[in-house]
Parts: sequence; structure tokens; C-alpha cells
Amino acid sequence: MEPFCWAECWVGRVRDPSPFRGDTTERGVSRASYIMYIVPKLDDYSPGALDRAVAELLRALDDETGALKNESDYKAFRDRWLARKNGILTQVNDTWLKAAPGPSKREVGQRVNALKARVEAAIDDAHGKIHASSADARLTAERVDVTLPGIQRPIGVKHPVLRVMDEIVAVFKAMGYSIGEGPEVETDYYNFESLNFPPNHPARDTQDTLFIAGQEKKPARDRLLLRTHTSPVQIRTMEKQPPPVRIVIPGKVHRNDPLDATHSPVFHQVEGLAVDTNITFCDLKGTLDHAMKALFGSSVKTRFYPSFFPFTEPSADMQVSCIFCGGKGCRTCKFSGWIELLGCGMVDPNVFDFVKHNGYDSSKISGFAFGMGPDRIALLKYGVEGLQAFFEGDMRFLEQFA
Ligand code: PHE
Repeated sequence: MEPFCWAECWVGRVRDPSPFRGDTTERGVSRASYIMYIVPKLDDYSPGALDRAVAELLRALDDETGALKNESDYKAFRDRWLARKNGILTQVNDTWLKAAPGPSKREVGQRVNALKARVEAAIDDAHGKIHASSADARLTAERVDVTLPGIQRPIGVKHPVLRVMDEIVAVFKAMGYSIGEGPEVETDYYNFESLNFPPNHPARDTQDTLFIAGQEKKPARDRLLLRTHTSPVQIRTMEKQPPPVRIVIPGKVHRNDPLDATHSPVFHQVEGLAVDTNITFCDLKGTLDHAMKALFGSSVKTRFYPSFFPFTEPSADMQVSCIFCGGKGCRTCKFSGWIELLGCGMVDPNVFDFVKHNGYDSSKISGFAFGMGPDRIALLKYGVEGLQAFFEGDMRFLEQFA
């Protein structure tokens, strides 16, 4: 496209004599099809001549405002008329008013002032119109068809195991427990040693796990493994916080167990720990009995069987009366009327010895701990056949919980 030439326009010639067809210059300014107005010198200052000059200027103003197509046109137009240096109004001021002989000054002055007001008003008006039309154009271009069908984004729901974990946590939260977490890749020290599993002790065999490779050079207690239970967070909590402690710790754990209906190499636990002065086994029983009633309904009964864990003494397994048959005996409870749900016990003084420096003097304080498996509880609660279903990610199974 030919470069736009202001100079030619200013002297009143337009290169392309054909009527304006909407073509624009490189700067996006529409070309004018009319001869551009230039401020004439006045020789005749009679009122009639002045009126004619004013009328001519106003006609030019009208023509130009009528030809404005877009924002760039408008800006060029505004500058042409208002620019301090060489704008049309400035020229009018210089060539008409300043040059006017003394007696005509008043007459010219009044007209020039009136002209200024007209020009400014016309420019304001043009601005309003251009703005409105470009906003209209944008609205048309960006029109959204609200009648089109929307994109359906299925909203996810909590996994049944997570849901059960949250329920358990909520029950303890209501009893004033806080919530803690710990790493899934744990050191031998936290997972075993500080929980009173001495190195090479056979109790470790009950919780076989995966060790991170290539750590032979490290001292045994620093070697990393996938935690086999959430109990290491007991020690981590007591290292950070002096007694009293009341905390529940939900989390994922790992064991070297092949997958079957009731075992998975990855599963979940919710750990609990309460330490204070004068905590007894009665507190343990009362707390867990209350929690089970809150989870399964007030008619549920609990009972405690002697058991063994290296980090609790005495230790117990807790059972609840079968939530399906109410204790009469059914397939789920293997006709015993009871279902085993968790391990628990009073914190072993040997465990407190590992955090003695932080106020855990076993002659002054005591505590209880428990660990339960939310996967099992979810199996029972939702009547699911095997643990696999929870971890396979089969949408047909999971969608049933939506
Ligand atoms: N950590 C034990 C397990 O995984 C459960 C447990 C926790 C037992 C706390 C007693 C106290 O088997």
C-alpha cells in the first residue's frame, strides 16, 4: 500500500481521487475522500467575511467528524484540530486573531472563542461515538452463545477410605485431639528403634517392609525405609512437643504383604496418642469405647483382648460387637459376634526414655496409644468384598461413592 502522505492532504490534494472506500493507512488511519481543510489567511475582516470563514471551518469540522471510522481516525482527527503546535485551533488563533487589525479584534475574538467551544464539543462527541461503536463491535465479536450445552466436568468425591479416615479424625477432634502427620519414607530409628524394636529383634519380622537401596554405609538407625505403621509419628510428636499430648495421625503405610482380600502392601492407619499425668487404661478404654459408638452407633460394644506390641505395655486388641448382626453371629464376624478393629496399649516406659529430655519422665507421666486400619473399617462399612477394589482405581467401583 502506498504510504499515506499528510503533506499532500494539507495542500488540499488527495492522491486517490476515487471516493473513500474504507482503506486505511499503515497506522490504521482511514483516508479522507474530501479535500482536507486548511486555515485560510484573512484579508477581509468584515463581519460577513468572518461569518463565511467560520461557516467554512465548521463545514470542514462536520465533514471530518462524519468520516471517522475508528479509534486511530479519531486520534488523528483530535490532534489535527487540537494540537498546541500547528493544530487548526492554534492556527485560527495565530492567523485570524493575532493578525487581526485592532478594531476587528473584538469581533474576531468572539468568533474564535465560540469556534473553540464548538470544536471541543464536536471532538468530545466524536470520542463518545467512536468509543461506543468500538465497544459494540467488541461485544458482537465476543458474543457468547449461552444456549450452547456446557462442558460437563464430573465433580470428584472423596475416596471411601479417605472418607472413613476423615470420620475417625473428626471423632477425635471433637474430643480435643489435634491432628499430626509424618513422612512415609522413615528412618529405621523412628519406625523401629525408638519404638522399642531393638536391632535384629524378632518383633521386626511382624512388620517386614521395603528399604531404600544403597544405604549399606549408613548406620542402621539412619537407613530409610517405607514406614510400616504410623507409630513413628508418636516419637516425632513427643520430640517436638512436651506433655500433655493428644493427637491423631492419619496416614499411609507399607508392608511386605502380598495383595489378597484382607491384605495390601499399601494401606492406611489412624494412630492416636494421649500423654499426661495420671492417664490410665480406663482412659484408653473409655476413649476408644466412645469413639466406636460415635463411629458405628451407640449400641456398639467394645472388648479388649491381651496382645503384644513392643511399644505398649500392657497391649491389647480391641474388638467391636459385629455391626452387621449386632453380636448374634454372621458370616462377616465369622459367627463370633465380634470384629477386631485396632491395636492399643499404654505407652511403654522404654519409649518415653527416648524423649526423656523433652519432659517425658515415665515416673511422672503416662499415656496410651492406638492404631486402627481405616481400610478394614471401610470394607465393613460399605460391604466391599476385598481390599483390592479400593486401590485398583476402577471407576465403575469408585463412582458408586459419588
Ligand atoms: N502400630 C501398630 C500396628 O501397626 C498398632 C498400634 C498402634 C498398637 C499404637 C498399639 C499402639 O500394628
